[in-house]
Amino acid sequence: MVFVFKDEPLAEVDSQLVEAAPWLTIAPAGNDFRAAKDEVAVLHGPPAFDIPRVVAVGLGKREDCTLERIRLAAAAGIRRCRDLRVENVGVVAAQLGRMAPTGHDALRVAEEVVCGALLGLYRYDRFRTVKDDERAEDPRWLALLCEGKNVPDDLHGAARKGEAVALGMGVARDLVNGPANIVTPAFLASEAEALGRKHGFRVEVLGRDELSSMGMGAFASVFRGAEEEARLIVIEHAPAGTEEQQPLVFVGKGVTFDTGGISLKPAAKMHEMKGDMAGAAAILGLFAALGERDLPRRVVGVLPCTENMPDGRATRPGDVVTTLSGKTVEILNTDAEGRLLLCDALTYAQRRWQPEALVDLATLTGACVVALGTEVAGLFCDDAALADAIASRGETVGDLFWPLPLWKSYAENLKSDVADLANVGPREGGAVNAALFLRQFIDDGVRWAHLDIAGPAFTAKKSALCPGGGTGFAVRTLFELVSEGIPAA
Ligand code: BES
Ligand code: ZN
Ligand code: MN
Repeated sequence: MVFVFKDEPLAEVDSQLVEAAPWLTIAPAGNDFRAAKDEVAVLHGPPAFDIPRVVAVGLGKREDCTLERIRLAAAAGIRRCRDLRVENVGVVAAQLGRMAPTGHDALRVAEEVVCGALLGLYRYDRFRTVKDDERAEDPRWLALLCEGKNVPDDLHGAARKGEAVALGMGVARDLVNGPANIVTPAFLASEAEALGRKHGFRVEVLGRDELSSMGMGAFASVFRGAEEEARLIVIEHAPAGTEEQQPLVFVGKGVTFDTGGISLKPAAKMHEMKGDMAGAAAILGLFAALGERDLPRRVVGVLPCTENMPDGRATRPGDVVTTLSGKTVEILNTDAEGRLLLCDALTYAQRRWQPEALVDLATLTGACVVALGTEVAGLFCDDAALADAIASRGETVGDLFWPLPLWKSYAENLKSDVADLANVGPREGGAVNAALFLRQFIDDGVRWAHLDIAGPAFTAKKSALCPGGGTGFAVRTLFELVSEGIPAA
C-alpha cells in the first residue's frame, strides 16, 4: 500500500519500492491515477515479483495534508485490500517521514497509519446470524517494510501504540454499539473485571445497596427506578513504582439506557440512548489500550453505571435528594440524570484520591450538540494548561474539542425554591448550565475538565474510519494525556 500526493509521480514515491516492484513505473492502471484524496487504484505486476500488487491511495495536495487525511487514506486503502482478499499488506516505512504534515514526524505518521488502517477494518456484526456472502476476512498482517532486517525500536513502538489505541477505540465502539439489553451496568462491570484480570488492573465494583448506604443520594435517585442493578466501577492502573503518585482520575457517565425516566423522552431516536454510556466506554477503551503498553503513570477510572427508567419507584419531578457532598438537589427533570450520577462520582473521586487532574466525560446534553454540531465535544475547563493539553492533543489524534464557558453568573440558573440546587436551568445555554451544575461539586484547587461528548460519541455518518454508530471518541485523547502527562498549571 503506497500513499501518493497529487501531482507527484507514483514512480517517484519510493526508490526501494520501485526496486522491488519495477513494473510499477509502467503499470497501465497508474496512468489514470490522479492521487486525489480518497482515490484508490490497484496496480498489478507480473506475479513472480515479491510485490505483485500495489494499492495506491491518494492523499490530495501535499500542502493540504493533515493527520486526519492520512488516517482516512490508510483506512480506505486497507478496506480495498480486504475487498481484494489480500492477506499480507505492507507499507513502506521510508515513506512515512516524507508524508508527515508540518509539525509531525515519521513516528506520528506510523502511529496514524496503523491506527487508521485498523479503524478502517472495524465492523460490528455480533448480532448478525446470517453473515453476508461478500464478507471478506480482514488482512492478517500489516507490515512496515524497512531497509535491513529489523524495524527500529521507536518505529516499532509507534506502530504498536497505533495498534493499542485502535484496539481501545474498538472496545469503546463495541460497548456503545451493543444494545442496552446486553450492555447493562453488570456487563460493563464484567468487562472491567476481564480487563483487570488480563492486564493486572485493580477493579472494584460497588452495587446498589453499598452506593445508597454510602450516601450517594443523587446517583441513587437515577437508579432507583431501574430493575437492572446499578454499579459503580473503579478501575486502577498503577504499575510498580507509581502506587504513591497522585493519579489522573477519569470519571465517565455510564447510563446504559436513558429513557428520560418519568420525564420520558419522545419515541423518535430513543434507541440512540443505548449510547449514553459512551463516557464510561471511552474509559474502558483507554484501559484496554493501556494494558497493551507500558506507561509509568497511575490512572484511575470511576464509572457510575445505571439505566434511567420510568417505574413505580422512579424519582418524581420535584423530589429532593441529598448528594454525597451533602448538598441537596431538587430534581425538576429526571432526564437531566447524567449530572446526578456524575456529581456523586466526582465527590467520591476527590474524597478518595488527590487527583493530579480530574476529567469527566459524558454524553451530557443535547444542547451541546446544538451548539457545536455532531463532530465536536464541548470542553469546559478553567485551567488553561489542562484545557490546552486536551484540545491540542485531541486535535492531533482526531478528537475535536471546542471550549465553552464556565461563567459563574450562570449558576443563578440552577437556583431551587426548596433545595440548594435544581438539577436543571433554562433550556437556553443548556450545556453550560449542566457544566456549572457539576462545578458546584469540585473543590477549590482541583484541576478539573468536563468533556460533553454527546455529539461526537455516536454518529449516523459513515466514513472510511467508522461504519457509523459508536466512534470511540476521546479514547486516544485520554491515552495521550496519560502518555504525555499533564503540563503544570
Ligand atoms: N443523554 C442525554 C443527552 C444526549 C442527548 C446525549 C442527545 C446524546 C444525544 C441527557 O441525559 C439528557 O437527556 N439531557 C437533557 C437535559 C435537559 C433535560 C436539561 C437534554 O439534553 O435534553
Ligand atoms: Zn443521559
Ligand atoms: Mn437524560
